[in-house]
Amino acid sequence: MAAMFTLAHLSDAHLGPLPPVPIRALANKRMTGFLNWQRKRRFIHDPALLERIVADLKAARPDHIAATGDFANIGLPAEFAHARQWLSGLGEPRDVTAVPGNHDAYVRGSLEAMQATLADYMRGDGGDHGFPFVRRRDGVALIGLSTGIPTPPFMATGALGASQLDRFAAALDQNGNEGLFRVVLIHHPPISKGPAHKRLIDAVPFLSVIAEHGAELIIHGHDHEHAFHWTSGPDGTSVPIVGISSASAILRPGKDGAAYNLFRIDGKPGAWSCEMETRGLAPDGTIKTLKERSLR
Ligand SMILES: [Fe+2]
Repeated sequence: MAAMFTLAHLSDAHLGPLPPVPIRALANKRMTGFLNWQRKRRFIHDPALLERIVADLKAARPDHIAATGDFANIGLPAEFAHARQWLSGLGEPRDVTAVPGNHDAYVRGSLEAMQATLADYMRGDGGDHGFPFVRRRDGVALIGLSTGIPTPPFMATGALGASQLDRFAAALDQNGNEGLFRVVLIHHPPISKGPAHKRLIDAVPFLSVIAEHGAELIIHGHDHEHAFHWTSGPDGTSVPIVGISSASAILRPGKDGAAYNLFRIDGKPGAWSCEMETRGLAPDGTIKTLKERSLR
């Protein structure tokens, strides 16, 4: 790595307001999601607050931005058009990497619509479309996974599937052998205290892949809260798993508000350093540094 690399991470923008919803589009799980948005979620995810978070993030001048899913709310094609516009405000597709969340894969066909509209932000350096995809930037390998699957109403589980996990293991090996700092982008937390109906179904196989093949950093969203865990890598190493709150959430009692993380990565294979800074909405209404932590 020639110089320090700064990666910004935000998640769960849940872009609003909802576009006009055709009645026929509500004849499935979207009906419950639509009512949930109208009654509750639209009062939690504030577009003006999201704008302030993005402005603060851009002022930090990161080398790359990772966005780990839930751009949409009920997986409408028009929501992905909005997401594309929003992502273009973050930066060029080569500098911004997205992966899907459960709200982007809301009903059958949603994930395909997302991939069609946001392809430039979700493809590997070779132009490949599937998952995982790998983007290499200045000594850092960004490995994007998809946990987005359509689920029945009131369910928000995620799954990687055996074939994606196999390809993921191979990508970890290749990039690890070549001495890159491997950052894994995943929507669902591999470790979570959240309820069973919101979990990553194959979290255990995922953690086994990490234990065998290693990674330097795993970042996720989904639970809309700041989270931090260590998991085992190969040869006695530990791998940090860092979750970030929703980038658009207002402050509510007992909940984390809008925030993003900055990871400052430096060093070389076997001697990496990574400093994390969480910036977000403070109780006084300003956006400031909430937490700092040394990851290795
Ligand atoms: Fe979310």
